[in-house]
Amino acid sequence: MTDLSTEIPRLRDAVIQRLVAQAPQPAPLTPEQREALRERIKAELKARDAVLVVHFYVDAELQKLAEETGGRVSDSLDMADFGSRHAAKTLVVVGVRFMGETAKILSPEKTVLMPTLGAECSLDLGCPADEFAAFCEQHSERTVVVYANTSAAVKARADWVVTSSNALAIVNHLKAKGEKILWAPDRHLGRYIQEQTDADMLLWQGECVVHDEFSAEGLRELMREHPEAEVLVHPESPKGVVELAQYVGSTSQLIKAASQSQAATLIVATDRGIFYKMQQAAPGKTLIAAPTLNRGTCSVCAHCPWMAMNGLQNLLDALEHPAGHEIGVDASIIERARLPIDRMLALSRELGIVAGKPKD
Ligand code: 13P
Ligand code: SF4
Repeated sequence: MTDLSTEIPRLRDAVIQRLVAQAPQPAPLTPEQREALRERIKAELKARDAVLVVHFYVDAELQKLAEETGGRVSDSLDMADFGSRHAAKTLVVVGVRFMGETAKILSPEKTVLMPTLGAECSLDLGCPADEFAAFCEQHSERTVVVYANTSAAVKARADWVVTSSNALAIVNHLKAKGEKILWAPDRHLGRYIQEQTDADMLLWQGECVVHDEFSAEGLRELMREHPEAEVLVHPESPKGVVELAQYVGSTSQLIKAASQSQAATLIVATDRGIFYKMQQAAPGKTLIAAPTLNRGTCSVCAHCPWMAMNGLQNLLDALEHPAGHEIGVDASIIERARLPIDRMLALSRELGIVAGKPKD
């Protein structure tokens, strides 16, 4: 008889791998086409009272455009906070779908557009809301803590939402209150938090297709080639990789660590989209991408295939023809999912992890 407890995750992994292979990438553009698109996007942003909210992993050109137009380039926590505090009527979220959904949950009165609604995340795909609800039912004595990289429906089932910037602090806070935790979906981040806090955590077994590919063996070899280098690692990476790091942190924390590091060379284990901002923060330092599994035969090779779906052309399409680019979340889900996100933002502000003032 088929064992469904192993068969379902196996089928889910196969679907995720197929979606990785199928994620459509933007067509190449000439410098003239790029410049024309940039100008039209700038004009549309003004005309629509819209602001760009962009993740560190997307193409450097999009990050640059956000900088030039008064938008924001940041991590998933700061994107949520910035979007909810900004006065613009329209938020254009350039990242993956869960980021757009979080923006909509926090600002239901605003229009939230994305260059593509097809930008998935393997953590979100690997944690379907119905299966997750059943898992929570089986462990109803536990406080449900979910990573921001989940659907709105999964967030609606949670007590707390966290990001990699505040997960340690929030789990420590819950542990101090004597709470047992059900954690989803990233198993590597969950294990890392568990080891750091010694909290009682039951882990959902999801993973990020990008970070899961970093190789401890390859990294050790690279460290031998660059003995002077410091190693910076995002905690969605496997245990063996995290253990080799001098610094482990969220995307914004890694950028800060790069700027403060005394080392002239840094080996970085996260999506290589981060190099644009990291190089700005650490000018003159040499940044080297950490090696992925089976050097040369990786499937995503340190760049999220869904973040890479964002480009200048689909960004302009979203502004000119919002139908098909607008994030919608059910009012009942918004009402429920907002509670754990608001809780996260309030505690993060209290602890000084996000700088922003709460919305009036
Ligand atoms: P951050 O919360 O560090 O921005 O990470 C988001 C993400 O998708 C990591 O893979
Ligand atoms: Fe999800 Fe990983 Fe892509 Fe981040 S990098 S959006 S965690 S698949």
